[in-house]
Amino acid sequence: MKIGIFDSGIGGTTVMKAIKDLLKDEEYLYIADSKNCPYGEKSDEELIKIVTNNVNELKNWGAKIIVIACNTATVKCIKNLRENYPEIKFVGTEPAIKLATNTDAKNILVLATPGTVKSERAHQLIAENLKKNQKITLLPCPGLADTIERKGDVTQKLTELFKNIDQNPDVVVLGCTHYSLIKPEIQNFFKSAKVIDGNSGVAHRVAAIVNSLK
Ligand code: DGL
Repeated sequence: MKIGIFDSGIGGTTVMKAIKDLLKDEEYLYIADSKNCPYGEKSDEELIKIVTNNVNELKNWGAKIIVIACNTATVKCIKNLRENYPEIKFVGTEPAIKLATNTDAKNILVLATPGTVKSERAHQLIAENLKKNQKITLLPCPGLADTIERKGDVTQKLTELFKNIDQNPDVVVLGCTHYSLIKPEIQNFFKSAKVIDGNSGVAHRVAAIVNSLK
């Protein structure tokens, strides 16, 4: 089965790897849309246009399932895509807020693009899942996905972004697929935290859909 995947660049390869670990025999079509990176700093209107182009391309290549391997595009566009392309099964990537709140963590830090941080969906995920004894901080990380995409100085960027942040969260959520590529560098700033992403959950949802279509 043809599985289409897209992101604003290399971030989504971390999602694709998790899917391939579960589904070795499928055919993968990947769009690394780096000319439009960063998605996280685009307006909703610009982003929906960009994402629609990617979906059209993957659809023309024969994808029946499309994985939005990008938190920003998922929280802003998945509803619209599901309405406009009922023939395609979409799987999105959302910040793993539910996973984090289901641990006994008291202090959770979510790192995400400015677009994801401002999105209604991120705040809905918090409202639906946060427990009374838990504190959650959503930290916008402007420029980080772009720095990773362009192989810039990640440590310098992280130092700048984290300078006023409590260094003792129990769980750090990587709410952008690019950030999974620099997990060790992020872990280095939050030595005692569990650093998580939602990639495995996405892979399991894709596997369930593939099996249901066979
Ligand atoms: N990798 C994407 C995400 O998960 C987008 C990064 C960007 O282009 O801003 O949010």
